[in-house]
Amino acid sequence: MKYLVINGPNLNLLGAREPDVYGTQTYSDLVGYISSYAERSKVQADIVQHNGEEKIIDAIHSSVGIYSGIVINPGAFTHYSYAIHDAIKSVPVGAIEVHLSNISAREEFRARSVTAPACIGQISGLGFYGYIAALGYFIMEGSS
Ligand code: DQA
Repeated sequence: MKYLVINGPNLNLLGAREPDVYGTQTYSDLVGYISSYAERSKVQADIVQHNGEEKIIDAIHSSVGIYSGIVINPGAFTHYSYAIHDAIKSVPVGAIEVHLSNISAREEFRARSVTAPACIGQISGLGFYGYIAALGYFIMEGSS
């Protein structure tokens, strides 16, 4: 089974970016964390990061026929990108939205996700583990 993990804008700066909110582990630590879980679970996880909306949409479109599920952290696009919402709804590949921080407990504008309604579900506030929880869901669903 192959899964696509899409990280949105500014997530490449993990570790340096607002460490009080996102922690001190870097983006490459995140990639290593997800990859080692995938390896242990005997699935393939392809992990990409894009700062631009267009590339995120292209990645979602290109997932058809290749991936069994998408784990997506759309970053700030979460809060206003109807284009990413529509892209998720345009493909038959299910998506789970993940946020490192608890978006319900931060600024008011972060509490609303316009992309989550297009997803199977949303995981927020569990740090790196959220990605594993999402992949674990797909793996369990795929094996049932
Ligand atoms: C984030 C939360 C968003 O509000 C923010 O814009 C991000 C990261 C998270 O993972 O907690 O870039 O998606």
